[in-house]
Amino acid sequence: MLDNRLSACASFVSGKGTVVDVGTDHGYLPCYLVENGVCQKAIAADINVAPLDSAKSNIKESGLEDRIIAVLSDGLKNISPEGVTDVVIAGMGGELIVDIISNGKNFYNAGFILQPMTKPELLREWLWSHGFEIKAEKACKDEFFYTVINAKYIGENSDYTELSCYVGKMGNETETEKGWLLKQASKLSKKGEGLKKSADNADKSEHYLKLAEKITAYAEGEKL
Ligand SMILES: C[S@@+](CC[C@H](N)C(=O)[O-])C[C@H]1O[C@@H](n2cnc3c(N)ncnc32)[C@H](O)[C@@H]1O
Repeated sequence: MLDNRLSACASFVSGKGTVVDVGTDHGYLPCYLVENGVCQKAIAADINVAPLDSAKSNIKESGLEDRIIAVLSDGLKNISPEGVTDVVIAGMGGELIVDIISNGKNFYNAGFILQPMTKPELLREWLWSHGFEIKAEKACKDEFFYTVINAKYIGENSDYTELSCYVGKMGNETETEKGWLLKQASKLSKKGEGLKKSADNADKSEHYLKLAEKITAYAEGEKL
């Protein structure tokens, strides 16, 4: 049984071919996907030996060794793109996710399922300015609120604003979406309040407080 965060990642998997789980750690996601028939094959990849060993032992325990390969790899570097239709990169910072995607150009035919723990705004800006479309976004909550981004390379950049980078494709209808939006607004508001302390940063402070206000209004049902 996956937690809500990894379930949200699983919900975007197309299942048409092999799924690569980059930074698999325990390997729960690929085991779930194959065990539940979401995909036929998966690659569980990690840069570190200890988490990969943990994935290997979970794969073995689930009797899935013939369908899930465990690979020691920095991002996608040691993996062949052949047959790969979905790449999941979850539980890492936005900057590291950008680094892994930008070094994985031979995977650009696959769909990317991205779950940034930090700086989702930076990840969205990079996606939109490097030919990716954000097809959908899903909020989820376990201990914290998270977003999962479903992106596809289309070879065309998209227009964006600072506000759209902070909100992405997040809806404002469910309680989880509203909760996630209000959390982003609260972070920006704290940043704005922090900057208020120095007179030199008055403009910046005002800027972040306005962004926070706009996101809060959207969370409360207004249009962006
Ligand atoms: C916090 S865990 C996330 C595990 C799982 N994806 C999840 O979301 O629950 C991050 C994992 O990413 C791995 N990792 C960090 N940098 C990586 C890289 N450049 N390439 C592959 N794996 C990486 C770490 O070793 C660790 O196992």
